[in-house]
Amino acid sequence: MTEHTNPTAKLEIDGKTYELPIIEGTQGDRAIDVRALRQNTGLVTYDPSYGNTGSCTSNITYINGDKGTLWYRGYSIDDLAEHCTFLDVAYLLVHGFLPNRKERANFSQLMNTHSMLHEDMRHFFNLFPEHAHPMAMLSAMVVTLSTFYPEMVANPDESIDITVTRLLSKIRTIAAFAYKKMKGHPIVYPRKDLSYCANFLNMMFWTPVNDYKPDPVIVKALNQLLILQADHEQNCSSTVVKAVGSSGANLYASISAGVSALWGPLHGGANQAVIEMLESILSDPTLTVQKVIERAKDKDDPFRLFGFGHRVYRTYDPRAKIAKKICHTIMTHLGVKDSLLDIAQELEAAALADPYFQQRHLYPNVDFYTGLSYRAIGIPTNMFTVLFAIGRLPGWIAQWLEMRDGTEHRIYRPRQIYVGPDQRKLDKNWIQ
Ligand code: ACO
Repeated sequence: MTEHTNPTAKLEIDGKTYELPIIEGTQGDRAIDVRALRQNTGLVTYDPSYGNTGSCTSNITYINGDKGTLWYRGYSIDDLAEHCTFLDVAYLLVHGFLPNRKERANFSQLMNTHSMLHEDMRHFFNLFPEHAHPMAMLSAMVVTLSTFYPEMVANPDESIDITVTRLLSKIRTIAAFAYKKMKGHPIVYPRKDLSYCANFLNMMFWTPVNDYKPDPVIVKALNQLLILQADHEQNCSSTVVKAVGSSGANLYASISAGVSALWGPLHGGANQAVIEMLESILSDPTLTVQKVIERAKDKDDPFRLFGFGHRVYRTYDPRAKIAKKICHTIMTHLGVKDSLLDIAQELEAAALADPYFQQRHLYPNVDFYTGLSYRAIGIPTNMFTVLFAIGRLPGWIAQWLEMRDGTEHRIYRPRQIYVGPDQRKLDKNWIQ
């Protein structure tokens, strides 16, 4: 980041002029630095939902929303998805550089060593109701890790490396156990001879009567899908993770909150909502693609076209482009013919040709095609956002660490503009 003394922004309030510094990022992003605004003027900025607020400087992820590009630590998402494993990218995000051969082997070994859950945690899954959503189980189990590994709470600085490792490794075990709980099947323990993603697939699909063997094409596709979701700078869930961490709460607690934030259908939960939307079109002969488009455009209807639109992208989400290719690769490889893919493509074409979507720069986002891929692999719809959480975990961790170690670190605490009643007295009759 370069800091300019000139140019500055000039702000005139009540006839008085204030100069505000302009800061510039390495890729030309510019921001008015308002840190001293309240102190100097007594005023605060008003930006509900933070669409115009830069909450930090960061060197992790760069998005160019106009061009539709995405980089992690300077590497393009296309290169990373093509040439790396998910673990390479997790290492890159957390450490800032790609691992060499030795670091890669060590990291992989650590993932194996820490993949099991404490046996007592296994019993917790039995206590959830049969229809518990796996995102609720995931969030609860992640924060529960802090009770089994209390050193993160007692001594956060010394135990951070092991905590990061435990989280990255155990999240797939928790996710797979949650799935087995929903199925009513016996849990499958992690295996030391399988890679990160192969291990997850094995824990999901191996049963005593189905000697499942992870398919290398599906393992690569899963690695790619998780890479696409690994970070996305100051998105809703990452901001939540950092807000919780800014109070000094431990990493498990912060990540658990991030899982909850991701669950919402406007965020990571959109991958589930997309499939449910496509299924409703398929199952209801009176519901056409055009009717769904019309509903999405209707301002009196809260319905939105799920998997479309993004706060930052004004063009096609680069992750959606890759996800679409992965979806085709998986379906071709498995010989799967899914009518939902046809409907998705019809819906995409209809939306892209519609002036409403064109004028608002609404394009498919990452969630539009990832669900179709997960479905083709055999992952049930309510597990899609859990897969997103596994993918996003390295990003959450990297963002949390950057916040904790940064010089700008203060507790997250926005101001407000109070618009409620003037001070009033309690009614005497009410008190009695
Ligand atoms: N369908 C219909 N209209 C939409 C959609 C959509 N999917 N997305 C945005 N719009 C419209 C809004 O109604 C608004 O119209 P207006 O200017 O006439 O009022 C305009 O486009 C701008 O939308 P905002 O809501 O202001 O955009 P915001 O940045 O706040 O929201 C969001 C972004 C939440 C992603 C939104 O596009 C949306 O709801 N999309 C559907 C849910 C979804 O796919 N979420 C996943 C996002 S990617 C991720 O989180 C991993």
